[in-house]
Amino acid sequence: MSSFEAYNLGELNYEELLNISGPELRDLICQHLVVKASVKDLAPQLFLDLCRKMGRLRKPRQQYTHPEFPDLFLVTNRRDNEGQKTGLFADGEIGWHSNGVCIPNLKEICVGLYCVEPADGSVTRWVNTRRAYQNLSESEKSEFENLVLQLKFRNNKFYKFDDSDFEMKVLKNLDVVEKPLVMSHPFTEKNGLYFPHHFVENFRDLSGLTCEKKSLLERLEKIVFKDEYIYDHLWSKGDIVFSDQLHSLHKRNDFSGDRLLYRTAFDYKYCN
Ligand SMILES: [Fe+2]
Repeated sequence: MSSFEAYNLGELNYEELLNISGPELRDLICQHLVVKASVKDLAPQLFLDLCRKMGRLRKPRQQYTHPEFPDLFLVTNRRDNEGQKTGLFADGEIGWHSNGVCIPNLKEICVGLYCVEPADGSVTRWVNTRRAYQNLSESEKSEFENLVLQLKFRNNKFYKFDDSDFEMKVLKNLDVVEKPLVMSHPFTEKNGLYFPHHFVENFRDLSGLTCEKKSLLERLEKIVFKDEYIYDHLWSKGDIVFSDQLHSLHKRNDFSGDRLLYRTAFDYKYCN
């Protein structure tokens, strides 16, 4: 039985959604990590407007974007007339990850998703890594606060990309990046574990010594991936989900049928 739940704003029309201020929505996301709502037939422009109330959108990369709204990424298995992919993460299962794992000083710590077509049985699962940290003993907290992750993208770890996929062109050029295993959240100032395990190349301590990777990985996986920290979201048409990318990870199951989500990633600068 899961005890981590998304904060649910319920069924709203767009006017009701607009009545929530940017800072109010930002604070809910930073506090609860996953915030959901249901808004029927939300136009792409309105979804963008909503995200821009909270911050600046990640610069688009001109591929896998909405044909009329290039600031909006598509997550879809739809193909064009030539049979080419038209969106990110087209098919199949995606393992645990968060946005921008291999980007140093990541600013875009929120991801917004809007479900246009849910497919059959499409579930995204979030794990609350802040709660995993909070439930550690004091000695484990001290131990983990002393550790740094060395992170690198490798294909066939969290997802099987084809060599021709656009994501591969971006991800394969990213260098090893170091991030602390325990991250203080910039808006709540609470600590949480940052543990995108599929990207971990090595652990080191603050003095620079490399730690034994296998046993630490296994130990942390047992600590983090517990049912009580996990929320499963079965997608329906019109669902909006915002999620924090520092203190949660997410993954997707396999599915069948037509699936289309709009996706944004943004920081909280100029939130109003
Ligand atoms: Fe994702």
